[in-house]
Amino acid sequence: MRNLLCVAIVSLAALLALGCSSGAGPGSGIGPAASISISPKSVTLESGDTRSFSATVTDAGGQQVTAAEVTWSADAAIGSIDSATGVFTAAQVTAITVGRVTAKAAGTALSATADVTVTATAESLGYAGSPACLSCHADKHGPWSQSSHALSLRGYQPGLPGVPDPWGGGIDPSGVAYVLGAGAYARQFLIPDTEGRELLVHPSRYSVASGAWSAVHPDDWQNRPWRVHCAGCHVTGFDESIQAPRPFAEPGVGCEACHGPGAEHVASGSEADIPSLRPADGEITAARAYDICASCHSRGRSPSGVYQFAEGFVPGAELSDHFTPVAEGDAEAFWPRAVGAPLVSRLNYQQAIDLRQSPGHGSCMDCHDPHGPTGFRAQLREAPETDALCLGCHGEMAGAEHSHHPVNAGVPTVTCVACHMPRTATSALPQDIASHAMLPIPPSATALTLGQPEAMPNSCMSAACHQQADPARPAMPVYPFDATGVAAAQAQWNLWYGG
Ligand code: HEC
Ligand code: HEC
Ligand code: HEC
Ligand code: HEC
Ligand code: HEC
Ligand code: HEC
Ligand code: HEC
Repeated sequence: MRNLLCVAIVSLAALLALGCSSGAGPGSGIGPAASISISPKSVTLESGDTRSFSATVTDAGGQQVTAAEVTWSADAAIGSIDSATGVFTAAQVTAITVGRVTAKAAGTALSATADVTVTATAESLGYAGSPACLSCHADKHGPWSQSSHALSLRGYQPGLPGVPDPWGGGIDPSGVAYVLGAGAYARQFLIPDTEGRELLVHPSRYSVASGAWSAVHPDDWQNRPWRVHCAGCHVTGFDESIQAPRPFAEPGVGCEACHGPGAEHVASGSEADIPSLRPADGEITAARAYDICASCHSRGRSPSGVYQFAEGFVPGAELSDHFTPVAEGDAEAFWPRAVGAPLVSRLNYQQAIDLRQSPGHGSCMDCHDPHGPTGFRAQLREAPETDALCLGCHGEMAGAEHSHHPVNAGVPTVTCVACHMPRTATSALPQDIASHAMLPIPPSATALTLGQPEAMPNSCMSAACHQQADPARPAMPVYPFDATGVAAAQAQWNLWYGG
């Protein structure tokens, strides 16, 4: 029944068309414009992209009216279009913007529209990129460019220093898009998925320290897109709305990852166009300044549960609106907590969670400077092998009276960092990352994990101390990593520091 009706309508149209075309002049065979269609009908573009639209005007018989004139227009929010050629240029937008492009057949009432979605690019969000800061801030750019922040993500090219040679782990280097990891610990490799829309983390990880390859998520790595699991912490200006292999302004942790978008400041060179991150200058509170570092140096999830990092966070924002850190009960992230002992991280990038336990230390900047000229390990203000880093503020703790350890030629045999920041968390090698809880870990805390495949270290029995006899330090007591050793070490602790 429905088909019959359609036939009837079509033949009526054909009749009408015939009638009209007879007036169009002999030989042409083409009637006046009866319909118009547009191509593409729907498209997603990035800010600044150009795209040609085309329109086809047909007569009632479906014949193309080649001579028909078409004029173009577009909603101002999505961009501009050449009214004669249909060449469209997407506007610079800061959030996904939808609108329409319209084609009109001149001299008729016929029109057709296409749906256009314009997504932001990092550039349209106002980033300039770290190279743009060099000309005026060479003193900051120099030390930063050597840091793990700058080198954390690099486009792969043959000969990149520190990249494994020969390659292993079943990796074909010609398929590698980016190298992840600055080089102090481990390296991972990003490869495009089969459709070229996403980057994936290759399931082989290379330990710079040991030279060994290990498997990471060998079974489900193809279901773990990098943009969801990793991106926000290893790039600058990550934009969730961009679904492309480069959803960010700059690879690595650039100047603007901490300072925020700086294009306006670069153009003006005026101090007023970029906030000072020093709380003392009154443009940011100490808590919001802490949140900048904490946005990447904390393990957790976005409130939506989608991202493994802070979603939509920009420097100056309140981190808790964008991120929920791992809970204390997470057995993967933390060692079991003993009474009277700090909560101790067993995984890397949890420094900001650790440090919150130390009310005296409200800023990472007390000890680190991301563009300091010192060249010390981990961009510290003083070498961690000396006590100068801590004694600047804790002068009264110098000497054997507090540490109870001998002082040779004026230099203590054990540093503040050895007892207060033992290495407890794992990145490339077991326990290669320092605890930032600042509070020493008593031996009794270790008792909770004895007998397990991996036992929790403590301040006395950490990698270099009191675990085994050392010919260079014959007087050093040895506390074996068992219940007896732990009990003996705890007895000594109680004697010195109270139970
Ligand atoms: C055309 C020169 C110029 C460029 C390019 C430039 N700056 Fe500046 N910047 C200045 C001047 C001048 C000041 C004020 C004096 C100072 O602190 O050095 C300043 C100050 C700053 C401050 C301190 C603001 C304050 O209120 O204390 C920050 C942070 C900063 N710039 C970051 C950046 C970053 C990040 C970039 C690159 C995205 C950049 N600048 C590029 C000229 C420039
Ligand atoms: C956008 C994310 C991000 C932000 C913001 C960030 N970091 Fe980092 N940071 C990283 C990553 C990623 C690495 C490790 C890079 C690597 O090894 O590949 C790192 C490494 C470091 C290191 C080791 C440096 C070295 O050269 O060994 C220190 C120290 C550090 N960050 C301190 C800070 C401080 C302090 C702040 C705030 C002022 C901060 N970070 C802000 C992501 C970030
Ligand atoms: C990891 C975060 C981080 C990165 C990356 C970073 N900065 Fe900073 N920057 C800070 C913080 C925090 C301060 C505030 C200094 C303080 O508290 O002593 C600061 C201060 C500054 C200042 C102002 C005052 C001064 O002399 O201390 C300038 C200028 C500046 N940064 C420029 C840059 C430039 C240029 C880059 C890139 C080459 C860069 N920063 C990269 C965190 C960062
Ligand atoms: C919440 C932020 C964050 C997320 C998400 C994140 N990282 Fe990192 N990553 C860091 C920080 C900070 C460091 C350096 C400090 C540390 O290791 O304690 C780091 C270090 C690294 C390193 C250097 C070597 C090492 O092991 O320390 C590699 C490689 C790395 N990350 C790969 C990844 C991969 C792959 C993902 C996704 C599966 C990822 N990261 C997700 C913040 C993050
Ligand atoms: C910029 C100054 C500064 C530096 C540098 C500094 N501290 Fe502190 N620290 C403080 C302040 C302030 C307090 C709180 C008042 C107090 O207990 O003296 C504190 C408190 C402490 C406490 C007591 C408990 C706590 O966590 O609040 C310990 C332990 C400690 N610091 C260890 C260290 C060690 C170890 C270093 C070196 C790695 C160090 N500090 C470096 C300023 C500093
Ligand atoms: C009181 C001093 C102090 C403060 C405050 C501090 N750090 Fe550290 N940090 C250190 C020392 C010392 C080391 C080196 C430990 C070692 O070599 O054994 C270090 C190492 C690191 C490393 C290298 C990886 C590792 O653990 O070995 C990163 C990353 C880091 N700190 C990030 C941060 C962040 C982020 C903050 C703020 C949330 C912060 N630190 C606050 C003293 C400090
Ligand atoms: C042999 C290990 C050891 C060394 C070395 C050591 N400390 Fe401690 N420190 C401790 C212990 C243990 C405590 C008490 C912790 C507790 O009660 O939970 C402590 C407590 C502290 C406190 C808090 C004091 C208070 O009154 O609450 C500060 C501050 C401190 N140490 C700073 C330092 C500094 C600075 C250095 C380096 C000059 C240093 N420590 C070296 C083991 C050590």
